[in-house]
Amino acid sequence: MGSGRSLAPFRPASWFASCSKPWWPGVCTASANPMPDPGWILVGPPESLAPGVRKLVFLPDGQSAIVLNLGGQFFAMENSCPHAGASLAGGSCVEHIISCPAHGLRFDIRNGQCTASPSLRIRTYEVVMEDKQLWLRPPGLNC
Ligand code: FES
Repeated sequence: MGSGRSLAPFRPASWFASCSKPWWPGVCTASANPMPDPGWILVGPPESLAPGVRKLVFLPDGQSAIVLNLGGQFFAMENSCPHAGASLAGGSCVEHIISCPAHGLRFDIRNGQCTASPSLRIRTYEVVMEDKQLWLRPPGLNC
């Protein structure tokens, strides 16, 4: 049973920290935009993602994304295999190819393309550095 209160749009903690009015997520009307862009999702400082380390980031739609550091370059992709929905987070990654731990399909983390089937692809996300933090930009966000 719901509480009757609708879910507020996701905002990183830093967005609220600089809000000048009393807030409930979604009702802050601060005119200044204290974060890189509304809707971007905070991943954390780049130091928290050493080469070879992966981080799971939860998205506003309830899904999750994997962010990883490969040789100092950051990549992000959805955490769901299009074959049967297995989490890719525990899959082995060799160079730019991540393998699904369930049945072994492999995906290029740079563009999400499955190496075995041109019709299978995982979503990838842009990772940007702003204000000494890594941010993930969900698809469809044009800001
Ligand atoms: S769920 Fe990933 S290959 Fe089957």
